[in-house]
Amino acid sequence: MSSLPIMPPREALIAGEWVATRERLEVQAPSSGAVIAEIARSQSREVETAVVAARGAFSGELGDWSSWSARRRSEWLLAFAAVIEADHANLAALECADTGKPMTQARGDITACARYFRFYGGAADKLHGETIPFENDFAVMTLREPYGVCAQIIPWNYPAQIFGRCVAAALAAGNTVVLKPAEDACLSGLRLAQLACEHGLPPGVLNVVPGLGREAGAALAAHSGIDHLSFTGSPETGTQVAQAAAVHHVPVTMELGGKSPQIVFADADMEAALEAVVRGIVQNAGQTCSAGSRLLVEASCAEAVLGALVERFSALRCDAGEANADCGPLINARQKAKLEARLAAAVEDGIRVAAKGRLTESAPVGGHFVVPQLLTEIPDGHEVLKEELFGPVLAAQTFADEAEALRLANATDFGLCAGIWTRDGGRQLRLAKGIRSGQVFVNNYGAGGGIELPFGGIGRSGMAGRRGSKA
Ligand code: NAI
Ligand code: MG
Repeated sequence: MSSLPIMPPREALIAGEWVATRERLEVQAPSSGAVIAEIARSQSREVETAVVAARGAFSGELGDWSSWSARRRSEWLLAFAAVIEADHANLAALECADTGKPMTQARGDITACARYFRFYGGAADKLHGETIPFENDFAVMTLREPYGVCAQIIPWNYPAQIFGRCVAAALAAGNTVVLKPAEDACLSGLRLAQLACEHGLPPGVLNVVPGLGREAGAALAAHSGIDHLSFTGSPETGTQVAQAAAVHHVPVTMELGGKSPQIVFADADMEAALEAVVRGIVQNAGQTCSAGSRLLVEASCAEAVLGALVERFSALRCDAGEANADCGPLINARQKAKLEARLAAAVEDGIRVAAKGRLTESAPVGGHFVVPQLLTEIPDGHEVLKEELFGPVLAAQTFADEAEALRLANATDFGLCAGIWTRDGGRQLRLAKGIRSGQVFVNNYGAGGGIELPFGGIGRSGMAGRRGSKA
């Protein structure tokens, strides 16, 4: 392991104070299985005081957030982006240690986090309402108001990026925040919160309650004192969280994963397609909501494409995040066991593992590694084509023509991303329109989409709004 980065306070941040909890949670490094720290295990008591603090900051009873003009918020967010950049190496090292992701990916994630603050800093003083022509004796205008207290429950796969996406957008609009980071990866979020306090964010504007989903998360989702709830994670937990919020009629935004197809036609630029197909599933060890986890390849070129993929998958190497190989470990032992059980069941069902990457000899023994793999000969409708496996596993199918490609692409309850690889312009447009998905890429693929683009899904991939952009 490389030397550990500067550790942030590992407590709950409430009203600008770091509050210790008696019970603690262990922080494990997925690359080695080693315990590298302990963090607070917030319970409903901490959630309660955090929501009260966020309410106080919003109403002006605590600190002066409510008196900040849009321009002042804008300037703070823009300056904070530079603060993140100044701490870039440290934040990236924390993210790499805590999630096990390859260092290059961790660095990219911190850059993206800073860009979220810059993007929403730029947007903060440009969010305005409309004037609407109506009857002559009316002058109608719409005002864009903040929600108030925004609860944010975020996952462990992109902790810093999703912190940026959620927190920057909420603050830009004048909200206050109670953030529940994932128990498996809190450190970058705590460091970002520490930097925000040092950088003059008034107390109570951003509160962080690390803890378990069923404790701190459930308490936050069920709290009557929140005005909006944003959740990123699994569809199953999303249902529970949305039900809890519905009791108090709290509006929710849900971002819940996918089973996104990359569709390769025989006329595609094969080099570009192959590169993106591999990257789209190996990135973050496949633990990406918008991972390209299905490959649909036109039958006439299937042999060549699958042959080339066998070569590429076989060449992939897995190692500790710090070693910066092609692929890091999964986040924890539970996710690894779950994926391995599903892969074993797939093989029982006759599915072929056409290629596998390899674990580097130097990889730590206790790491939660699952090597990248390519699955072929998959029976129609099999689980590996429908469920999010959340690992570096690509499920390949062939199709005879465009109509079958569209049918297979849509044969899932998810609808987050899709990639279409063809030079035929008419086909690009027909499929882009026909595929049920929040985003469709043509001759490109960008898991996550980008800060400037509206991101979010339909069906089981999520509801009520988009992330990123001004959505
Ligand atoms: P999860 O959806 O349970 O966790 C996400 C967040 O929700 C975490 O902060 C967690 O503490 C919180 N949470 C859990 N239970 C809660 C509850 N009852 N009330 C309120 N908050 C709660 O995901 P988990 O268990 O870590 O991973 C399981 C599967 O979820 C993965 O295999 C993957 O398929 C999916 N997942 C998808 C993500 C995505 O970005 N689409 C991110 C993380 C997980
Ligand atoms: Mg961890």
